[in-house]
Amino acid sequence: MESINSLKNRFVEAKKAAELRYNQGDYQGAMPYLQQAAELLGEIYRRDINQKNRELYVSIRDQITERFNHCKQELGLSPAPKKAAPRPAPVNKPAPGKPGSDKTMTVGDKQPEGEGKKTNGGIAEEDINYVVNGIDVKRFLVTESREKEVLFSDVVGMEREKRTVQRELFLSEEQKAFKASIGAKNKNFILLYGLPGTGKTYFAMALSNELRQFSGEDIPFFSVICTQVKSPHPGETENNIIAIFEFTKQFDRCVLFMDEFDAIGYSRQLATGDPTVGPAVNTLLTQLGGFASNPNLLFLAATNCPYNLDGALLSRASPKIEVPLPSAQVLQGTLERKLGKHLAPDVDLSAVAQRLEQSKFSNRDCSNLIEAIKDELIDAHEADDMIVSYDANMIKAALKKVTSSVKRDEEEKLEEFKAQYAE
Ligand SMILES: Nc1ncnc2c1ncn2[C@@H]1O[C@H](COP(=O)(O)OP(=O)(O)OP(=O)(O)O)[C@@H](O)[C@H]1O
Ligand SMILES: [Mg+2]
Repeated sequence: MESINSLKNRFVEAKKAAELRYNQGDYQGAMPYLQQAAELLGEIYRRDINQKNRELYVSIRDQITERFNHCKQELGLSPAPKKAAPRPAPVNKPAPGKPGSDKTMTVGDKQPEGEGKKTNGGIAEEDINYVVNGIDVKRFLVTESREKEVLFSDVVGMEREKRTVQRELFLSEEQKAFKASIGAKNKNFILLYGLPGTGKTYFAMALSNELRQFSGEDIPFFSVICTQVKSPHPGETENNIIAIFEFTKQFDRCVLFMDEFDAIGYSRQLATGDPTVGPAVNTLLTQLGGFASNPNLLFLAATNCPYNLDGALLSRASPKIEVPLPSAQVLQGTLERKLGKHLAPDVDLSAVAQRLEQSKFSNRDCSNLIEAIKDELIDAHEADDMIVSYDANMIKAALKKVTSSVKRDEEEKLEEFKAQYAE
């Protein structure tokens, strides 16, 4: 495999060659070099795990894309650069005095570019109207995450699931046109289900980032935790749901991710004693109808207990993707990535991974175990600073502290669900 340094050298050369031609107005000549530089940068991005570098690569990638689009424009190859800018949306003005109303701007009323401007998927925060129908939608959105930049290459295993979504969503213009010509339905309501800590949220983030990279557009990703959307007060859950869906209409393209979806999509049949469930599900169904008709919007939902979801919601979700417990191979990959550099020769990671698989460790359990192993090393190093690697005893000690979080009854219910709904 080519080294990252060699990739970086080739990238610098390609970028230099592109800039020389671009500055001379040779747009035709610059384009292949820009393309080559973008491809090399993509590969460097995938391989370099340093978060700071990755942020820098994204800004360089954006610069290259801008130049490439400018070249195309100059050569009459495209009318205007593509960007998922906010568009005027029928968003109601907030009621005076409501939270956040003082910060609200009219959509499209742009402020001058400034340094340190916060963006969401490349769109300036100031251009986004967070107050919809008097509800401050921002309080539902999960904005900060360590894992914002994860890609499919970071998601260990799940190759079949990655292929499934790629087949459905990563389509060329020709493929889209063909699908439209035969009246094929848009698959833009995807359900991710699986036991706690298996990686549903992680997968959703990676999918959204891949989509952004594939399309070259700034597709914003809005993540909502449904337990925060649900309210015990009649009518409030429905209003919150409507506000969130209305909010997304400001964007030509976007991903809406509803985590812990069962909190608002609970089965009307099962919830006989809770009068707030029926109206919430009805509202979701109406709002999802609007989403389904727009191929540029993607709705992702995740749940640990799909068997509690309302049947009408389940029948609309396709594909329904199970995020399984990790195999020994996947667990070994994670252990190697996180501990491999400082491993003592007496450690057999393959045997550890087999044991974790048998004990039904989720990815989160595995992450917890890795932290516990690190703690063991820190303690040992404090006692003797010659100890700098993870040995078999540390792993044994950590395994006594961390156990699987999987519950047998949850696993059984999921098995039953899978048997009924597997696609
Ligand atoms: N396929 C994977 N490859 C590598 N790491 C993973 C993978 N899946 C999950 N992880 C790690 O496990 C952690 C837990 O995953 P995540 O929070 O996505 O689980 P979840 O299924 O959404 O859990 P919950 O049901 O509690 O919401 C992540 O923070 C990530 O570090
Ligand atoms: Mg989650």
